[in-house]
Amino acid sequence: MPQRQPTHILVVGAGAVGCFYASKLHHPDVGIFVSLVCRSNYQTIAAEGVQLKTRDFGEYHFTPHRVFASISDAGRGAPTAGPDGHGGWDYVIVTTKALPDRVDDAASVEHVVRQGSSPGTGTTIVLIQNGVGIEAPHRLRFPNNPIISCVTVISAEQVSHGIVVQNRWTRISLGPYSDGVGNEAQSASSSPSSTTTTLSNASTESMHLLQSWWARGGIKDAEPHSEKELQLIRWHKLTINASMNPSAVLSGGTGNADMVLLPELRMHIRGVMDEIFYLAPRILQVREGSFPEHLGLASAEKIIKSTERNKGAKPSMLLDWEAGRPMELEVILGNPVRMARERGLECPRLQSMYALLKAAQDRREEKGKDAKVGEGSKL
Ligand SMILES: NC(=O)c1ccc[n+]([C@@H]2O[C@H](COP(=O)([O-])OP(=O)(O)OC[C@H]3O[C@@H](n4cnc5c(N)ncnc54)[C@H](OP(=O)(O)O)[C@@H]3O)[C@@H](O)[C@H]2O)c1
Repeated sequence: MPQRQPTHILVVGAGAVGCFYASKLHHPDVGIFVSLVCRSNYQTIAAEGVQLKTRDFGEYHFTPHRVFASISDAGRGAPTAGPDGHGGWDYVIVTTKALPDRVDDAASVEHVVRQGSSPGTGTTIVLIQNGVGIEAPHRLRFPNNPIISCVTVISAEQVSHGIVVQNRWTRISLGPYSDGVGNEAQSASSSPSSTTTTLSNASTESMHLLQSWWARGGIKDAEPHSEKELQLIRWHKLTINASMNPSAVLSGGTGNADMVLLPELRMHIRGVMDEIFYLAPRILQVREGSFPEHLGLASAEKIIKSTERNKGAKPSMLLDWEAGRPMELEVILGNPVRMARERGLECPRLQSMYALLKAAQDRREEKGKDAKVGEGSKL
C-alpha cells in the first residue's frame, strides 16, 4: 500500500508505551508526523510536550505534531485530503490498556479510522497492547483495513503527566493480522481466500514501513514477523503476563523475583506457564515442539531463572489493583480461557485465577459503589 506524503500517524493513549514509541516514530524531516490523543494528561502535553528519561537514549523532549483531548476531537481534526484524494489518518496506533469489559476500543477508534472500501485499503490500525484476542474486534468492525499487531517487551512508566521513564528494553515485534491464524494455517486442501491474502499483503507492506520508521528513530529491535509468528510471540509473552501478573495480586502483592524464589509459588508460576505452552500450539495450529524454540524464544525454565534477578519489579496488574484501577483481566486470562474452552482444551490454573480475580474486582467495585451511596445518604 503506497503511503502518501506526508504520512499522518495518530497514537491513541499517551501513556508510557504510547509516548515512548510515538517519540521514536516522529520524523518531520521525511514527512512522518505523529500526533497524540491524550486524556488526563492533555493540558500538560498540549502545553509542554513529553519529557522522556530513557536508559537507551538518554533524556530528550518530544513535541507531537498535534495533541488532542479526545478521540472524537482527533476525528474532527483529521488531516485533509492530499493529492491522492485521501484524507484522514494513515495509521492509528492504539496504546491504551486493553480493557474490553469496559471499553470497545474498535468502536472508540471509529472516529479516526478511515474505513477501507476494498480489502487492504483505509487507515492502518496498529495495536500495541498485552494479551491475546485483542485484534478480533477491530477485524470485525473494519473488515477491509490493514491491521498490524505488536508485542512489546519494555519497562516504562508515566511517572507524572507528560513525563515518561523507560527503565529498560525497547523490543517491539510486529506482524500483519488478517484472520488471526495467518495464511500458512490453511490446510493443503483449502487455499486462503483472496480477501485474506490481500489483507495480509497490505498489512505486511504497512508493517515494513512502520518498522523502518522505528529503526530510523533508533529502535534496533523493531522486528517484522509473519502473522503466525507474531501470534506465537503474543502467546509467549502471555506466559509471563498470565503467570506473574495475576499471581502477584493473588499473593497479596508479592513482586516477580520474590514469587519465583518461594518454592510453592515457583511451582505455581511454572504450572501456569506450562498450561500456556500446551495451549498455544493447539490454538494456533502449529506442530507441537515447534514452540517456542524455533522462534528463539525462551523456555519456561529460562524465564523463571531470569526473573530471579528482577528484584523490586511489580507487574502492571498489581500496580493497577493497588491503585484501584481495572485490570487487563480479559485479554490476559479471560480470552485464553475462552479460546481453550471453545476447543475442548483444559487450563485449570488460568481458569481458577480468572474466576478469583474477576470476582475480587467485581466485589471491590460493588463496595466502592456502596461507599458512594453511603456518602450520598449523609447529605
Ligand atoms: N508500561 C510497560 O512497561 C508495558 C510493557 C509492555 C506492555 N505494556 C502494555 O502496553 C499497553 C499500554 O500500557 P501503558 O503502560 O502504556 O499504559 P498507561 O501508561 O496506563 O497508558 C495508557 C494511556 O491511555 C490513555 N487512555 C485510555 N483510554 C483513553 C481514551 N479513550 N482516550 C484517550 N486516552 C486514553 C490513558 O489515559 P489516563 O491516564 O487518563 O487513564 C493513559 O494515558 C497495555 O496493554 C500494557 O499491558 C506496557
